Amino acid sequence: MLALSRRILARGAILAGLIALAASTARAEHTPGFPWLDKNLSADARAALLVPQLTLDEKIHLVHSQFTQRDPEDPPPAGPNDDVGYVRGIPRLGIPPLHMADGNVGVANPWNARDNDEATALPSGLALASSWDPDLAFAAGAMAGGEARRKGFNVLLAGSVNLVRDPHGGRSFEYAGEDPILSGIMVGALIRGIQSQHVISTAKHFALNDRENGRFLLSAEIDEKSFRESDLRAFQIAIETGDPGAVMCAYNKVGGVYACENPFLLQKVLRGNWNYRGWVMSDWGAVHSTVASAIAGLDQESGDKYDEEVYFGAPLKKAVEDGAVPMARLDEMVGRILRSMFAAGLFDEPAAPAAIDWEAHAALAQKVAEQGSVLLKNARRLLPLQRGDGDIAIIGAHADIAVLAGGGSSQVRPVGGPALTVQLGGTPMGSPKMVWDPSSPLAALRKEDPTVEIRYADGSDTAAAVALAKEARTVILFAHQWMSEGWDVPSLSLPDNQDALIAAVAAANPRTIVVLETGGPVLMPWLDRVGAVLEAWYPGQRGGDAIARLLFGRVAPSGRLPVSFPQSEAQLPDHAAISFGSAASGPVHYSEGTAVGYRWYEMRNARPLFPFGFGLSYTRFDYSDLRVMRSTTNPMAIEASFTVRNSGGETGTDVAQLYVTLPEDRPNGVRKLAGWKRVTLRPGEAKRIKVALDPHALQLWNSATEAWEMPSGSYQVALGASARDQRLAARIKIELHDGAPAIAREQADSR
Ligand code: BGC
Repeated sequence: MLALSRRILARGAILAGLIALAASTARAEHTPGFPWLDKNLSADARAALLVPQLTLDEKIHLVHSQFTQRDPEDPPPAGPNDDVGYVRGIPRLGIPPLHMADGNVGVANPWNARDNDEATALPSGLALASSWDPDLAFAAGAMAGGEARRKGFNVLLAGSVNLVRDPHGGRSFEYAGEDPILSGIMVGALIRGIQSQHVISTAKHFALNDRENGRFLLSAEIDEKSFRESDLRAFQIAIETGDPGAVMCAYNKVGGVYACENPFLLQKVLRGNWNYRGWVMSDWGAVHSTVASAIAGLDQESGDKYDEEVYFGAPLKKAVEDGAVPMARLDEMVGRILRSMFAAGLFDEPAAPAAIDWEAHAALAQKVAEQGSVLLKNARRLLPLQRGDGDIAIIGAHADIAVLAGGGSSQVRPVGGPALTVQLGGTPMGSPKMVWDPSSPLAALRKEDPTVEIRYADGSDTAAAVALAKEARTVILFAHQWMSEGWDVPSLSLPDNQDALIAAVAAANPRTIVVLETGGPVLMPWLDRVGAVLEAWYPGQRGGDAIARLLFGRVAPSGRLPVSFPQSEAQLPDHAAISFGSAASGPVHYSEGTAVGYRWYEMRNARPLFPFGFGLSYTRFDYSDLRVMRSTTNPMAIEASFTVRNSGGETGTDVAQLYVTLPEDRPNGVRKLAGWKRVTLRPGEAKRIKVALDPHALQLWNSATEAWEMPSGSYQVALGASARDQRLAARIKIELHDGAPAIAREQADSR
């Protein structure tokens, strides 16, 4: 929140904190008289045994976390040296402390509040989502969770699963795109990875925190059916897949009620419909009441000093004593926190300082950048570059030393420290710093081809850049757009005159390859004039190496867009790009409803610049023989099978995508993603692939019965390479017999 205006205070050496932490988190043994430490019991049973042991003050203590980046005169208790959220343990009962750090793209250390505490900086959330590879998301989560644990943290504030409804959204880079199924599965896998390290992960920000401008004030307005089928679906899938210990409620209001005191979100949907068992923590500064929040389902107030008062401190104690909040509800709040702590292993496997395998983690960050970069254009097979094929000019975006990272609370201090920090001014959030990760594309490209001359111009002088471009055989022009938590970008055009620079350079040398380091979609008025475009997002601390290897074909581009790129801002829904100030403080109507992103374009017969699911490779893939059938192993499930063939000349990885159009889906947007498969094939190789259609994609919310239904009727299942490039289709007729789908008729047709 205010996150960006937090005071940054130097702290003592990290080591001192870690040593103190080690002492305070010594492994909880099964102590006689402490039956809740018995690992053989379920997490529920252990929490149920422990709650009655707590005094009222201890319970109140557990339901609010402190923000510990405080004045030196008021130092935080021993811990990993500046937690963004901290709850002191209760040693008399063996309850460990909670040490929280942000962690969506690695263990964050925004504004260097923990002196020089570095962590592996992963590529952005959109980059990870572009891999369409849940195993990779799991590995990234396990990496970040492992680092958190070794640094002494046991809660990572990760799992950002808000949908990108408006690409101006300042946190688009943290999220996983516009599709609920892709986002839910990818973020769910990340959460599972984090929690595999005995570190609790959140899923956040619940819900509809899809934009930053006005996030503390605005009320997101959407009809319930659309909400259930879009943003809530993404959360539901992420929670089912990842089973996060905590869910973080958002700053904004939903339907006029603050998300952290919203009974519809917290009681009806999260607990009622989804049977969620973990705890709900607030975002930092998102609490506005005591009784209403506690009764609505908030279990823990976070970073307490951010709220106007510590609502879940003395006021909650009084409310419990007065009976305004029943003791049973307080017990439930505490029980949920303890249950998640038991379930994730915080009692049995406490976080402890240990050495980190930095090299292995950097290699993983590089792998994410390699799989997550998306090749958008490659005219006349300009790429991959061939060694020894003439001099290269590198232009722009500090590509001599660094790659860009996104800003805000998720900002990681990369290993080796930032290559560059640029102090900005005049933003709605004050004077944030733009951080560049220390990975030099120039150095990596020189390593790829030491036989040619590779020169650099920073792009600030267009004439100099054009002169360099003319002398070179090939130009690689790096362009960037910085995004941050706290405010939305005012425009999707590249800032600082970069469009003009690209146009001028491309006019001088048509063999111009543009590498984009952007938080989300940008406009490309120069697209027709350049030879190639690689969207590298914020590529993390090995981004330079990944980009060089992709451009030289050492690794095949395999990323696919998790978000549509518009041709112009006019193509976006009406609520896009609301500005800071009064427009952002009232209701924001998400009138596109469930038709987020590609479904919006399809409903309006509009052609985006690049569609969801799009991404080129250095080879070609053909599809044949699509069949859709009832699963042989699970009669409730529907499977599609098809053949993918690499019909080009290079080994490559395809992401074959299945989209389904439901019988009555027209009014809510047309087709939706129902499954996909990444498959790597050698030239000429073909593979028969089977994909189970995600049952979530086959259901619609029935507002009358308040239940999900799989409608009977004719479904179209289309196989393609993006939301627009649909190559084969099959129709199936589904009738329900005792609730189980039965395929009445199957008919394949090619298009
Ligand atoms: C962000 C959360 C973050 C929290 C703690 C808030 O400003 O919205 O995503 O976890 O700060 O840093």
